[in-house]
Amino acid sequence: MEIKIQSLETIHEAAKQFVQAMGDNTVFAFYGKMGAGKTTFIKAVCEELGVKDVITSPTFAIINEYRSDIADELIYHFDFYRIKKLSEVYDMGYEDYFFSGAVCFIEWPELIEELLPGDAVKVNIEEEADGSRKVSF
Ligand SMILES: Nc1ncnc2c1ncn2[C@@H]1O[C@H](COP(=O)(O)OP(=O)(O)OP(=O)(O)O)[C@@H](O)[C@H]1O
Ligand SMILES: [Mg+2]
Repeated sequence: MEIKIQSLETIHEAAKQFVQAMGDNTVFAFYGKMGAGKTTFIKAVCEELGVKDVITSPTFAIINEYRSDIADELIYHFDFYRIKKLSEVYDMGYEDYFFSGAVCFIEWPELIEELLPGDAVKVNIEEEADGSRKVSF
């Protein structure tokens, strides 16, 4: 499936379409270059999922958790950009999150590729020449 984010003004429409397509899947791996818009889109999707807390980029923490009004479970947002060794990921107990049934959104999944659950949904975000973004999964 492909979702177009024409601009930041319409990102919530795109996020709504994404939420409708999520189905029963829980783990979403977001691939895309630096600055492609992963954090921004995940933030918009979390807002669609009823997260009210201010969501900041998890650049300095590997994992951020958000509470949603709609889902009873927490939503976990990971950014593995700064991971140097897989042992750091084992040490944070990644399995307790990935296999918990809670929604997990992952930035820089390529750095922990071998630890991703087999049923993780791979999402690609690309910036187009006109500044719009294409989300495909
Ligand atoms: N859909 C969009 N339309 C226009 N601008 C966007 C869009 N998404 C993100 N941006 C802008 O692009 C910049 C980078 O976005 P963001 O931080 O979400 O990227 P990222 O993929 O998470 O990058 P990183 O790999 O560094 O984590 C921000 O200034 C943001 O405002
Ligand atoms: Mg980011």
